[in-house]
Amino acid sequence: MEQSQQQQQLRSVLVTGGAGFIGTHTVLQLLKEGFLVTIIDNLDNSVPEAVDRVRLLAGPKLSLNLRFFIGDLRNNEDLEKVFSDTKYDAVIHFAGLKAVGESVAKPSLYYNNNLIGTINLYEHMAKYGCKKVVFSSSATVYGQPEKIPCVEDFEPRAMNPYGRTKLYLEEIARDIQKADPEWRIILLRYFNPVGAHESGQIGEDPIGIPNNLMPYIQQVAVGRLPELNVYGYDYPTKDGSAIRDYIHVMDLADGHIAALQKLFTTEDIGCVAYNLGTGYGTSVLEMVAAFEKASGKKIPVKLCPRRSGDATAVFASTERAKKELGWSAKYGVEEMCRDQWKWASTNPYGYRPQS
Ligand code: UD1
Repeated sequence: MEQSQQQQQLRSVLVTGGAGFIGTHTVLQLLKEGFLVTIIDNLDNSVPEAVDRVRLLAGPKLSLNLRFFIGDLRNNEDLEKVFSDTKYDAVIHFAGLKAVGESVAKPSLYYNNNLIGTINLYEHMAKYGCKKVVFSSSATVYGQPEKIPCVEDFEPRAMNPYGRTKLYLEEIARDIQKADPEWRIILLRYFNPVGAHESGQIGEDPIGIPNNLMPYIQQVAVGRLPELNVYGYDYPTKDGSAIRDYIHVMDLADGHIAALQKLFTTEDIGCVAYNLGTGYGTSVLEMVAAFEKASGKKIPVKLCPRRSGDATAVFASTERAKKELGWSAKYGVEEMCRDQWKWASTNPYGYRPQS
């Protein structure tokens, strides 16, 4: 069969923020599953090299199914360019700012980028007749949960401007779907994404000093930072450190494929939220020990006061995703640390060679 004929039969997906950490891993899986993929990314927190690596991992044939536009969702011209020449079957919307501390310092930047970008995207989707979307939400909408595991129908709350952008965007999605039932929307609430593709060729590459635990540990392991500050050693947990639900980024990527399949197969989906987590918690000190084991490196730690706004323990209820998406996480903490170390040890300075 001619390639163009073959391509006509493939489903086409627009991935916003597809050059980022979760985006690159999901794009690779989409290509492997036989989707045509278009990335739009403004490279605010990512680099073109990440997309080049995805092409290499996908191989010469599948990488023909990937297009990459540098563009910003707030810019109508960029969106027109992306929407006018292709009919998308669905959109996976990752693009957004996500640093909690920065959102407290610059709330209007967060509201402008995350809210306006998303509304603009949805307006273009409606204009071009694409009304299926998988949206990157976050466990941040559970705030400091009164009960664990976190169940999707808990009353959402948020502790900071970043969290509020996710919360408002969930509400906006519900309103849009209510007003026009042709929309099918899945809100995926990620717990703590870590790890990397097993090749070690793609992974998380934050700019500056990392805010999140695993990128920080990784930089200590490769000698870029001297020690890890453990925020809180007096929590009412088994070792005094806080507990989170870490999830391998490849499991997360597969969760997006499952959500996409659901959008294509189930008509009356409405607007529905799913947790993507493993369903169990691991403490900060347990993560440090698991990473030391995987890497063979000592991670010096300094016990510090709690970080303000942090919860004691957060982990997901995974029942709804299991039942309705047929998805559950396959990997444990050992594999998360193994693959994160592979990425860190082969790319100690991420995608950017040391200057
Ligand atoms: C954080 C965000 C959350 C966001 C998520 C994305 C906060 C308060 N929350 O979640 O909104 O959706 O990232 O992945 O920032 N820790 C240390 N030392 C460090 C870094 C972290 O001890 O250098 C501890 C934290 O106190 C926490 C755990 O490690 O107990 C995980 O922290 P982190 O990776 O930042 O994730 P969350 O705080 O769960």
